[in-house]
Amino acid sequence: MIIAVDGPAASGKGTLAEGLAKHYGLPHLDTGLLYRAVGRAVEAYEDKPEFEQRAIAAAQTLDAADIEPEFLVTAKVGNLASKVAVIGAVRHALFDFQREFAEQDGGAVLDGRDIGTKICPDADVKLFIEADSKARMERRARQFEARGQQVDRYALYHQIEERDARDMANPNGGFYQAADAHLLDTTLLGIEAALRAAVAIIDEVMERKSKQ
Ligand code: C5P
Repeated sequence: MIIAVDGPAASGKGTLAEGLAKHYGLPHLDTGLLYRAVGRAVEAYEDKPEFEQRAIAAAQTLDAADIEPEFLVTAKVGNLASKVAVIGAVRHALFDFQREFAEQDGGAVLDGRDIGTKICPDADVKLFIEADSKARMERRARQFEARGQQVDRYALYHQIEERDARDMANPNGGFYQAADAHLLDTTLLGIEAALRAAVAIIDEVMERKSKQ
């Protein structure tokens, strides 16, 4: 079973995807980490003319085994990730790894922005996770604070809005809700309630499919 989980920054899709992977005993790939790893690798070139070429080279040589999430989950790296994510050749270089992960025996859970539209258009179940901007900012702020990082909520709110705007305008993206994706708004839901709602959707879809 392939489960695609998409949604904007800090919508809760990563936590939800992790919970779903545990619930169904499937491997999980947070595809945002791939873009974050590429962004971090080219941080020194952010305002330089060679940024794009360096980002392409970093994506082509990225070794998933070297990804260190603890250095990647910062607002700065998230912003860099969205800058490398608009480069078509970067997306192309990361495509095969994501596709192979999804197609492993038994299936997988992948979360990101384009899983249901581009990476796994044939996924068994697609979820699109939403939450309003303030709720997303607050969740991300608490996540950073739990890691001991200082948070300026006003700046964070604007960083998330800026990243969303860049993502939505990404000409190579596919960052929209797939026509056959199920919308789950988590604004008013805690982690457990969101997980229960997602499991209910998935079980219903799979049951319907088994009868076809
Ligand atoms: O999901 P996360 O916030 O970690 O993603 C960081 C950035 O990576 C996103 O803002 C987006 O620009 C990019 N991304 C992407 N495609 C994906 C996952 C993430 O372009 N499948």
